[in-house]
Amino acid sequence: MLNFSFQNATHIYFGEGQIKALSNAIPKDAKVLVTYGGGSIKTNGVYDQVVAALAEHSWFEFAGIEPNPSYATLMKAQALIEQHDIDYLLAVGGGSVIDGTKFIAAAALYDGADPWDIIAQGAEIKSALPIGCVLTLPATGSESNTAAVVTRDGHKLPFRNDLVRPAFAVLDPAVTLSLSDRQISNGVVDAFVHTVEQYLTYSVNAKVQDRFAEGLLQTLIEEGPKALAADTKNDLAVRANIMWAASMALNGLIGAGVPQDWATHMIGHELTGAYGIDHARTLSIVLPAILKIRTEAKRDKLLQYAERVWQLTDGTEAVRIQRAIELTEEFFVAMQLPTRLMDVNLDETHIDGLIESLTQHGMVQLGEHGDITPDVSREILRLAL
Ligand code: NZQ
Ligand code: ZN
Repeated sequence: MLNFSFQNATHIYFGEGQIKALSNAIPKDAKVLVTYGGGSIKTNGVYDQVVAALAEHSWFEFAGIEPNPSYATLMKAQALIEQHDIDYLLAVGGGSVIDGTKFIAAAALYDGADPWDIIAQGAEIKSALPIGCVLTLPATGSESNTAAVVTRDGHKLPFRNDLVRPAFAVLDPAVTLSLSDRQISNGVVDAFVHTVEQYLTYSVNAKVQDRFAEGLLQTLIEEGPKALAADTKNDLAVRANIMWAASMALNGLIGAGVPQDWATHMIGHELTGAYGIDHARTLSIVLPAILKIRTEAKRDKLLQYAERVWQLTDGTEAVRIQRAIELTEEFFVAMQLPTRLMDVNLDETHIDGLIESLTQHGMVQLGEHGDITPDVSREILRLAL
């Protein structure tokens, strides 16, 4: 196992009816800005629950944070923050709203010229407004991690900072019942790929992390399809298991002390930045191709994955690995996600542009060995055609 330092200070309030915990989780004298997206919270009762919980607080609201939140939208919150002396942010939504709120929190107290430098230049953040969140879409783990992804003019880029980790997160599985099948599928596959990117690398004999990761993958494989099936889709136990699995997949725990890949995500971000494809739908296209091209580098872990996650014990090593990759693709298809670029109407002619922006964004040494160069990324995209 590699050395690591691990702390996750986000206080989780999990379960049905937990939104009311907001009233005590946010200091009573705080001036709160409630941030949200395109309005789903107004039709599924979440907004009303938040309003009730904030009855004793002074609060304002900032709506319209879009999926794949944009710098331009997020910067509009700064005027409200100044005008009302806001000192606490409450994000109510999915990964986009929470990520966007992390950027708003850092930008509000940034002392440089342009807050975009936090992302583009890795400029230092000395402080950030505190954040709480009510998660409405299990997927990203953003509710208790330090990462955020923001898009500016087609450039979709991540940043990480301990100062933007939410102080608390409310996870009520009941609020996920209003999600469309598409968003449920996206969420399950995003969480699956987060787990894979921290697990399917090379072995460092990290047994706890491996077994945790395998448990999360098996949970998502078992429960994901149930959240789409007519007779089980409203089952709160299914939603609860998906919600907790997605959170655990990227809260730092399974990634501590192990090598991490993230090439699927970085290549996927280019597909979203250039063509607006949903985040998870880029991952379901890129991951199978990466596993095929990196089979040698990932051989031991692929065999472990085949045996422990897919119960594949018969046949040669090559057969077991190939079958494990096929089953991964079949799982994505069962979750109604694309697995090829042609499924999202892209072909060979789009690859050069994607590689160019990947290079421009400095994503030239990807993967757990740092050896996925732009040429290898090109091969990966060709295989995904
Ligand atoms: O905007 P509203 O009206 O709320 O609608 C949203 C949005 O249209 C809707 N939705 C959310 N909760 C709902 C709901 N609709 C009905 N009922 C509910 N309960 O779902 C749509 C998609 O929401 P979004 O927040 O974009 O989805 P997701 O949670 O998948 O977040 C994706 C974003 O997170 C980033 C992605 O790149 C992408 O920008 N990621 C963040 C990560 C992190 N912070 O660690 C890691 C991930 O890998 C990912 O990159
Ligand atoms: Zn993701």
